[in-house]
Amino acid sequence: TEATRIKIRQATEQRGKRVRVFGWVHRLRQQGGMTFVILRDGSGYLQCVLSGRLSQTYDALTLTLESTIQITGVINQLPEGKTAPENHELTADWFAVVGKAPGGDDAFLNQVNEDADPSQLADARHLVIRGENASAILKVRAALLQSFRQSYANLGLLEVTPPCMVQTQVEGGATLFAFDYYGEQAYLTQSSQLYLETCLPSLGDVFCVQESFRAEKSHTRRHLSEYTHVEAELAFLTFNDLLDHIEELICQTIDRVLADPKIKELIDFLWAGKGKFEPPSRPFMRMDYRDAIKWLNDHNITRPDDNGVEGPHVVGDDIAEAAERKMTDTIGRPIFLINFPKDIKSFYMSRVPGDEEYTESVDLLMPNVGEIVGGSMRISDLDELLAAYKREGIDPEPYYWFTDQRKYGTSPHGGYGLGLERLLAWLLNRYTVRECSLYPRCIPMTTS
Ligand code: 4AD
Ligand code: MG
Repeated sequence: TEATRIKIRQATEQRGKRVRVFGWVHRLRQQGGMTFVILRDGSGYLQCVLSGRLSQTYDALTLTLESTIQITGVINQLPEGKTAPENHELTADWFAVVGKAPGGDDAFLNQVNEDADPSQLADARHLVIRGENASAILKVRAALLQSFRQSYANLGLLEVTPPCMVQTQVEGGATLFAFDYYGEQAYLTQSSQLYLETCLPSLGDVFCVQESFRAEKSHTRRHLSEYTHVEAELAFLTFNDLLDHIEELICQTIDRVLADPKIKELIDFLWAGKGKFEPPSRPFMRMDYRDAIKWLNDHNITRPDDNGVEGPHVVGDDIAEAAERKMTDTIGRPIFLINFPKDIKSFYMSRVPGDEEYTESVDLLMPNVGEIVGGSMRISDLDELLAAYKREGIDPEPYYWFTDQRKYGTSPHGGYGLGLERLLAWLLNRYTVRECSLYPRCIPMTTS
């Protein structure tokens, strides 16, 4: 009979039929005159069995990991107690090598030794992503992005695609990547926020999924030089509305991902031996910045002063990554940390009414990762914005289009940015965000 060409994910519905499959040799075992191949095509894994004369051919005897093959045969369900992906296997009647991978010293497993040091593994990233862990992470990442878009559709936000090449900073000059743009200095975007704000009068509430770039000068578990930034901006709302929206977005998006059994299986696989992912319970805890300082001091979590001497936290301090992580891990659930002092936050943030030293700002902190979202209400008054440029030493000229938003019909509005790799590190219990990026970019280890 003619073999139907299928992707491995379709194998279950093709049981009992003769099919043709193309893929990569993921695992290989010769036993009792038979050859067992776990074939991988990105859509799934399929055990294929070569027996009799087929397993004694030159191609079968010299087959190597990561070679590509095409193979035909019937898919049979296996009796209870057998172990094969999806509990079925393809009984091969023919196969052919498409591209043979090397054996010996050049063999695949010598390129992606899991014990190799991280910089070697980074160089071999194009091969590492073929592994079960890395590909599971990338599959969950795809599902998460799709789920975010579905949540935004439900919540009535429209997707836009702001530019990556810009002439303005959003989060301070220290982390800007500069480049030459036809003879003028330009930057890679740190955040699409200012562009999203310009869309409110024409499109209403908007979101984007865009790469952001930060020249982060130190190696940490949670900083990349390029990351995927999910950002949104909403008009005519209060700070509390904004917090409710972020909570709804996160919970809806995570719940949808967990409701997909295939994705749930990948998440459980990535957590194996380390517990299991606990979806956050609502409402999220809301903690004022000043209460956080008190909490840190009550728990003897110190910070170094200007001379490197450890001491208590003081109101006005930026809370460092390590202290933030200790607090979040101890509390063990999502925390909206709100109302940061104006001096440690961005120029565009509006003040707490009646408490002008503090801003209507929020960081969402997650166990094991820390900050995954940063957001705020924005200054909506023109004069206040002009004063903010001045205070921060920002030349208002290149921001004329942003300033115009306060001139031509201003509105109370707010928004936030979420680091996709950080959310994944939380969801998938990863040690570093570098595992959650396809090709992570970060400062070389040798650079100081
Ligand atoms: O807190 P940030 O700097 O806020 C902004 O950029 C705002 N303009 C966003 C907005 O309001 N539209 O960054 C937002 C989030 C952080 O909470 C973090 O999750 C992620 O972006 N992030 C990074 N992720 C990986 N590597 C880095 N270097 C990151 N810097 C920020
Ligand atoms: Mg932040």
